[in-house]
Amino acid sequence: MANESVDEPTPSKSPGLIRNLVSLAGAVIAVIAAANVAFLVFIDFLSNRPNPYIGIFGYMIMPGIMVFGLLLIPLGMLIERRRRRTRAPSEIPRFPRMDLNDPKQRRTLAAVSAFIIVFVALSAAGSYRAYEFTDSVQFCGQLCHTVMKPEYTAYLQSPHARVACVDCHVGAGAGWYVKSKLSGAYQVYSVAFHKYPTPIPTPVANLRPAPETCEQCHWPNKFHGDQLRVFTHFGTDEKNTPRQIRMLVKTGGGDPATGLPSGIHWHMNIGNEITYVATDNQRQVIPWVQAKDRQGHVTVYSVKDALTPDQIQKASKRRMDCVDCHNRPTHIYRPPDSSVDDAILATKIDPSLPFVKQQSVTVLVADYKTTEEAVKGIDRDLTGFYQSKYPDVYASKQPQIKAAVAEVQRIYQNSIFPEMKVDWRVHPNNIGHFYSSGCFRCHDGNHVTADGKVLKKDCDTCHTIQSQVESGKPLMGTAQGVAFQHPVDLGDMTAVNCADCHTGGVGP
Ligand code: HEC
Ligand code: HEC
Ligand code: HEC
Ligand code: HEC
Ligand code: HEC
Ligand code: HEC
Repeated sequence: MANESVDEPTPSKSPGLIRNLVSLAGAVIAVIAAANVAFLVFIDFLSNRPNPYIGIFGYMIMPGIMVFGLLLIPLGMLIERRRRRTRAPSEIPRFPRMDLNDPKQRRTLAAVSAFIIVFVALSAAGSYRAYEFTDSVQFCGQLCHTVMKPEYTAYLQSPHARVACVDCHVGAGAGWYVKSKLSGAYQVYSVAFHKYPTPIPTPVANLRPAPETCEQCHWPNKFHGDQLRVFTHFGTDEKNTPRQIRMLVKTGGGDPATGLPSGIHWHMNIGNEITYVATDNQRQVIPWVQAKDRQGHVTVYSVKDALTPDQIQKASKRRMDCVDCHNRPTHIYRPPDSSVDDAILATKIDPSLPFVKQQSVTVLVADYKTTEEAVKGIDRDLTGFYQSKYPDVYASKQPQIKAAVAEVQRIYQNSIFPEMKVDWRVHPNNIGHFYSSGCFRCHDGNHVTADGKVLKKDCDTCHTIQSQVESGKPLMGTAQGVAFQHPVDLGDMTAVNCADCHTGGVGP
């Protein structure tokens, strides 16, 4: 870029074309930017964790400024030449004359070519680093801290904390890479001008299909068998009565080629092709669903009178994949109820504090405008509760109360984000059916075929309860399991929707 006018045969007396204001300014800018790049690259090599700001300045902004400076040099020369030519058109020809027999011109040409080759090589290395960097977790998660804080915080505590954002959100291949950078450019703009929505909406409209992301790491045919899950809850009473359910979740799986196919994964993922129609953006209301088995038999279940045949025909149908159940594999916003249960179980919150379960959840779900306000409010209200209602406990259990306050504040900071209006209610988890509809979006007992077959909701369709501890009394199961015993008699359990009462916030 810099050689187009260096070979200018300058009239011997006049100074070199490069001596003009624009070119000189360009040279100064380029040198300063180059020094910055060198310094930032040096720091980047020294640090073992990529820093988003070093990345964005060292590999994008400063090189950009440097190129701008370099371009100014020939531009200035060009303007200068024009200026001189209009003054003396007869002396200076229209185009520069090149003469490789002139040793001075030869040297200049060699120097400029060498510079260009080195520059291009360095830029290639730099662009690769810029490419690596724009795909890094730090770039995606930290650069726009306010906007990505909920997703990034939840991600860091999830089973996928070591999986890069791009492995799920972009995947391999040039097409999706370009797509993601184009939408990324819009996102940078929307952050810069505060045009982003709060909360960031979900589902992600064009998330890459699971076979090209999740299934690159997880083999869909893997046999998981029955998986033991233990759920421990604490009551909202004064004694925080513990309750426990041990159940085998029939995840199953299996390729008919290798074993007995069975369980949730088999029915929902491998044996059948399931398609559905959702009537809301969040895919939480699903009035129509169709299963097509390996032989091609089609079974349609629908909620009576929810949609007309015409509406069903026109509706866009989604093929169910991993993300329809595992919609929160990494951005898991835990409901306060379950976070507090876990903290009590881990004795980070002392269960001997009266009503500590109920009160902790109450202060967590209160309405706060900012995280800072919440942290103060949690301390004030939780401490205040013991101060006013249990003065002796307050006097004798200071350290336990302090620890409980700190833990509840930590839970808040890790799962509720008032600035972005994100919490467990905004992004419900579709695995299970306790705090949100989840599996009961379809298995609610209301989805029936034309000839009256109901999509199963029986409590042993998906899991068997091995044992249950209720009000301190253990109920042991047989090989077939125990029937679930609800703390409060609700009659036929298949007739209720758990999430109607169990909201994840203050107990029912
Ligand atoms: C294990 C795979 C995985 C990883 C790793 C991952 N995500 Fe996600 N992300 C998802 C899925 C699945 C969704 C929900 C998509 C849906 O419901 O359509 C999602 C949703 C989102 C959303 C939309 C808001 C929301 O919470 O639903 C944002 C923003 C987001 N991810 C950003 C990130 C960032 C930033 C990182 C890295 C720090 C990251 N993701 C890492 C799988 C992943
Ligand atoms: C880059 C590889 C990778 C990708 C992509 C990936 N996962 Fe994972 N996933 C893992 C690893 C590794 C683990 C095991 C983590 C552990 O046990 O510590 C895991 C664990 C899981 C688990 C078990 C979680 C638990 O509670 O233990 C589920 C469910 C899961 N992944 C679903 C998904 C879904 C859904 C997607 C796509 C949105 C996905 N994964 C994408 C690597 C990946
Ligand atoms: C019908 C809903 C559904 C679909 C679709 C589904 N899963 Fe699952 N998956 C489950 C349930 C339920 C469990 C048991 C999880 C539990 O109890 O925490 C599970 C368990 C798992 C586990 C084991 C988790 C562990 O803790 O060991 C992995 C890994 C997993 N699924 C990956 C996938 C992948 C990959 C896909 C897509 C090919 C997929 N699942 C599709 C419902 C589903
Ligand atoms: C989009 C609707 C939909 C959702 C959501 C859904 N299912 Fe299903 N499920 C179906 C359909 C359709 C069938 C197939 C019934 C058939 O074979 O006729 C099915 C079948 C099953 C079966 C086999 C039942 C049998 O006949 O023995 C299991 C187990 C199952 N699902 C578990 C789950 C679990 C666990 C979840 C939640 C993580 C879930 N499903 C969520 C639609 C759904
Ligand atoms: C369509 C499948 C399906 C059906 C039908 C089903 N469950 Fe579940 N249930 C699940 C899954 C999956 C989980 C595990 C969620 C998890 O791993 O977090 C679960 C979890 C539970 C839990 C533990 C919740 C917690 O957080 O403590 C209870 C209790 C429970 N089920 C009771 C029932 C009862 C009672 C019925 C009958 C009305 C029933 N389930 C029907 C799929 C089902
Ligand atoms: C009509 C409201 C209502 C419905 C519907 C309901 N529950 Fe409950 N549930 C309660 C009440 C009230 C308690 C006692 C809460 C307490 O003592 O803190 C409770 C307690 C529980 C507990 C003990 C853990 C805890 O949080 O205290 C489990 C487990 C449970 N319910 C499971 C279920 C399941 C599974 C379903 C759906 C099949 C369901 N419930 C539906 C009202 C309901």
